Amino acid sequence: MKVYARFSRPGDERLRRRLERLAAAPGLDLAPLPPLPRGEEDDATPTLHITRSGLYLTLGAAKLFFHPGMALLRVMRARRGEYDRFLSLADVRSGDTVLDATAGLGADALVAAWAVGERGRVVGTECAPLVFALLRDGLENFSTDWPGRGCGAKGESLAELGRAAERVQAHRAEHTEFLRALPDGAVDIVCFDPMFRSTVAEAAAMQALKLWSSPVALGAEAVAEACRVARRRVVLKERRGSGEFARLGFHLPAQGGSKVCYGVIKRD
Ligand SMILES: C[S@@+](CC[C@H](N)C(=O)[O-])C[C@H]1O[C@@H](n2cnc3c(N)ncnc32)[C@H](O)[C@@H]1O
Repeated sequence: MKVYARFSRPGDERLRRRLERLAAAPGLDLAPLPPLPRGEEDDATPTLHITRSGLYLTLGAAKLFFHPGMALLRVMRARRGEYDRFLSLADVRSGDTVLDATAGLGADALVAAWAVGERGRVVGTECAPLVFALLRDGLENFSTDWPGRGCGAKGESLAELGRAAERVQAHRAEHTEFLRALPDGAVDIVCFDPMFRSTVAEAAAMQALKLWSSPVALGAEAVAEACRVARRRVVLKERRGSGEFARLGFHLPAQGGSKVCYGVIKRD
């Protein structure tokens, strides 16, 4: 996929290394942003901005970037002993190996990596090249980009998330192929959070993600492979009332009135 790169600080060694790592990301064709005259801008090719305050991708008004905000909020709540529906229904435990088969920009993967602790790990697969590049860059630079941006419980949670980010191993891979290559019972939990089937009004970040992510529906073969590979749970996140749960054989535990639900297949 062709992407323009806009590099804000040519003399910054850390940013240069970051750019080189991005240029080597699978499936990306990174080219310097050409100096196009006004009115002749290339509005079909996204631009990746590499700046000291972070990395972001733009196309017109759409903007996509790695941000730990949602994971941070969930970890701060979980540290206070509050319930996290994903961690509870997926039955994530300390020391587990979790495969996040639709890693996206890593919020669930980070929360899972925090929950499994130092003895556990999270493997994430993401097939869309640009999303994967942002995810890998965000995870690899988490500890320099984020800790220090908060104090008290927020600062502590960011520091813990920084260590959790190191436990997430991201792969640019299509999940069915990735799962096929794993032995039986290789992980404790496999989770799927594919792009929702039905479209409704969505937040700007989700609209931007839609531009560069894979819209393909979760396949029955991926679920069958996940059931072979998971020792304890296979979990699917979808909209409440989605036919995907029944089509793919997921049981829906009671979970209040939320618009989003988790379907579960127990393997133990
Ligand atoms: C809704 S997002 C996941 C968000 C993620 N759970 C989070 O917390 O940030 C779904 C992601 O799954 C990816 N995806 C869809 N089908 C896939 C497949 N077959 N293999 C790997 N990734 C896939 C999409 O490209 C997209 O980035």
